[in-house]
Amino acid sequence: MELLRIEGGMPISGETRVYGAKNAALPILAATVMVAGTSVIEDVPDLEDVRVMLQILEQLGARVRWQGVTSVEVDASSIHSTNVPADLMQRMRSSIFLMGPLLARFGDVTLSKPGGCVIGQRPIDFHLRGMRQLGAKIDEQHGYIRCSARRLIGSSITLDFPSVGATENLMMAASLADGVTVIENAAREPEVEDLAQFLQATGASIEGAGTDTVIVHGCSHLHGTEYRIIPDRIVTGTLMLAAAATRGELTVHGARVDHLGAVLQKLRDTGVRVQVDRDIITVKCDETPSAVDFRTAPFPGFPTDLQAPFMALLTTAKGTSVIHESVFEARFKHVDELQRMGADVNVDLRTAVVRGVPMLSGARVTASDLRGGAALLVAGLMADGTTEVDGVKHIDRGYQAIEAHLSRLGARIERVTV
Ligand code: EPU
Repeated sequence: MELLRIEGGMPISGETRVYGAKNAALPILAATVMVAGTSVIEDVPDLEDVRVMLQILEQLGARVRWQGVTSVEVDASSIHSTNVPADLMQRMRSSIFLMGPLLARFGDVTLSKPGGCVIGQRPIDFHLRGMRQLGAKIDEQHGYIRCSARRLIGSSITLDFPSVGATENLMMAASLADGVTVIENAAREPEVEDLAQFLQATGASIEGAGTDTVIVHGCSHLHGTEYRIIPDRIVTGTLMLAAAATRGELTVHGARVDHLGAVLQKLRDTGVRVQVDRDIITVKCDETPSAVDFRTAPFPGFPTDLQAPFMALLTTAKGTSVIHESVFEARFKHVDELQRMGADVNVDLRTAVVRGVPMLSGARVTASDLRGGAALLVAGLMADGTTEVDGVKHIDRGYQAIEAHLSRLGARIERVTV
């Protein structure tokens, strides 16, 4: 079993650059199956979920090749299967992104319910309802879902909630449908916009991505292209929070400040100094941060993916913070573990009340989901003594070689096998 062992108390300081966004790379890699040719995707993070997605593409018959360390070439002209292997479906939620692309290009797809972080029920009803509205026939039997359609037909779809994944899946499917699709109450996340830009580079016609109304004019085929993925706003945020929590000074280069508005605002509200110069963000903290309240919300609101790491910072803030999680119903699993480290947090359904304590103390803790794991890292970096974080596989799904990255910034952290 692997653990991340951290000796707390070292400031996270220095300069760094952030790699491409996992949550943009995954749908874009799935979208390459719609291209009857070769796509080259740059700035792809080398993460467990990305490897699973590439494995799925290979099993469907695509030729996949890493070019250097950060670019991936996918030639989808040789795809011979539309069955997404059940064992790989179980390994991550994003396997659902194959539904729209395979259905749109081949008229058929069979998959099973996706796995992924257990942070709520995470149904796929919006995806299925949307595909039906585009004319797909859906059969659900023995745990498998088969979607088929001779040709998808553009339609008007209103989502009950601005779901990131459903917006992306439907946008992909609609790109190869007959006629126009309008998606209302669409997610506005930067990753949705990034996927739309990739699709546009392959010849798709999409208007309004990044707003709550996305209009897709279907076309008959998409062509190969080269595309660079946006930097990961959640990794950027996590590193900034680690710097603030350890009273460090960190400069992140190549960041997209426009993707981090709500987070930078909340950090400033705690008293942490945040300076922005085009794509460079510097965070400096030399005093105890103050408590703040926030609620997670779809973009441009505060991202649910940074709720847990931000909570870790607030565990030693001056005063009491109230955090409301409005996106996922079970995203407080890190709280029990933070309490083990001396944090004073009470949860009532979707609300957590965090009373700042002077110091956390190192302990053996378990990550049970990706961002909850990131919170435990932030907590371990600021705690007194040694913290051992178990469940490292969850952290590896979203943070590339995290111990090497943090070590370069001054942390005392190592991966140990026990
Ligand atoms: N929902 C439904 N039905 C659906 C789809 C979603 O009820 O068919 C609900 C969900 O249960 C949830 C809410 O809608 O309560 C929002 O879910 P959404 O579909 O927006 O999330 P997602 O597409 O499954 C993506 C990210 C998540 C991120 C959320 C919210 C990817 C691969 N994943 O998930 O990232 O938290 O959007 O921003 O893009 C992570 O990186 O750790 C992570 C979980």
